[in-house]
Amino acid sequence: MKERLEALRTEALQELERVDSPQRLSDLRVKYLGKKGALTEILRGMGALSAEERPVIGQVANDVRAAIEQVIEAKQAAFQQAETENRLRAETIDVTLPGKRPPSGAVHPLNKVAQEIEDIFIGLGYTIAEGPEVETDFYNFEALNLPKDHPARDMQDSFYITDEILMRTHTSPVQIRTMRAMDGKTPVKVICPGKVYRRDDDDATHSFQFNQIEGLVVGPNIRMSDLKGTLLQFVQLMFGRQAQIRLRPSFFPFTEPSAEVDVTCVQCGGHGCRMCKHTGWLEILGCGMVHPRVLEYGGYDPEKVSGFAFGMGVERIALLKYGIDDIRHFYTNDLRFLGQFVRMS
Ligand code: DAH
Repeated sequence: MKERLEALRTEALQELERVDSPQRLSDLRVKYLGKKGALTEILRGMGALSAEERPVIGQVANDVRAAIEQVIEAKQAAFQQAETENRLRAETIDVTLPGKRPPSGAVHPLNKVAQEIEDIFIGLGYTIAEGPEVETDFYNFEALNLPKDHPARDMQDSFYITDEILMRTHTSPVQIRTMRAMDGKTPVKVICPGKVYRRDDDDATHSFQFNQIEGLVVGPNIRMSDLKGTLLQFVQLMFGRQAQIRLRPSFFPFTEPSAEVDVTCVQCGGHGCRMCKHTGWLEILGCGMVHPRVLEYGGYDPEKVSGFAFGMGVERIALLKYGIDDIRHFYTNDLRFLGQFVRMS
C-alpha cells in the first residue's frame, strides 16, 4: 500500500508539473484528492491493515496529500498572479497622453461689455433696475414727455402690438417705473440694462433689436456737473485713464438741457483717423437733466429734487472698445468671431 501511495505521489506531481490552465488544475484536484479520487480509493483498503501498520500508512497518506495540496496551491497562486498581471497589462492607461479637451464656451462679447458697464456703475453705488420689453405707450412715450407727433411714435419706427402696447424702443421707460416704485423717496441711483426694439433695416450700424443701458439719478441738488463727473469717471474706467469727454448740446424730450457725449477716439487718441472721421471724437451716449415733467410723472416735485439721466447702446460701446466694424458680427454666432473674446477681459 505504501508503494501505491508513493506511486500516486509521483504520478500526481508529474501531472501537476505539466498543468497549463486553472481548469485543468481543478480537474486534477478532483482526480487525486476528490471524494472519489485516487487517494480516497487507496485509503479505502486501510481497513485490511494491521493495527501497527495503520498509523504508519496513515502518516504516509497524509504526507502524500499534503505534498499534492501544496503543489496545487502553489500552481493556483501562480495562475492567479498571471491573470492579475494580464489584466493590469490590458487595462493600462497612459497618463501622459494628452486628454481630449471639450470646446469651452465663453461669455458673449456683448454680455461681457454689458457686465463691465454694470460693474463700473455698481462700483459707483448704483443698483440695477429692470423693466418689461413689451411696454405701454404711457411708459415708453407719454410719461417721458414724448409728444404725440414725435417721429419715434410712428408705426414706421416702432413695433406696435396694439395701439397702446409696443416693444419698448429704449430703456428710458424703466426710469418712470423705478421712480414710481421709489414712491417719492430719494436718492434714486440706478442703471437699467436691457433689450430694445426698432423698425430699422439691419446694416453695419443698425439692428431691429439691440441693447441699451440707461442711467438715472434723482435727489436733492443733483446738478449737471454731477452728470459730467460721473460720465468722465465711467469713460475712463471703460476706455482708459487717458480718455476725455466732451458734451455737445442736443435734444431729448425727457431731458432739459440735453447733451450728446463724445469720447476721445479710442483708435487715434484724438489726433484724427478714419474711425473718428478725423474729428478726434466718437459719440457714445445721450444724456441730460431729467425734465421737470418727467420727474412729475415719476411722482417727484421738481421744485424739491432734480436728476440726471443717460442712455447708451451696448453694441456701440463694444464696437468702439474692440474696434469691430459691423454690428451684425454680434448676432451671427460665427465661432471664429466669438472665439476671439474667450480669453479677453
Ligand atoms: N433713450 C435715448 C435713445 O434711445 C437715449 C437717452 C438719451 C437716454 C438721453 C437718456 C437720456 O436717459 O437722458 O436714444
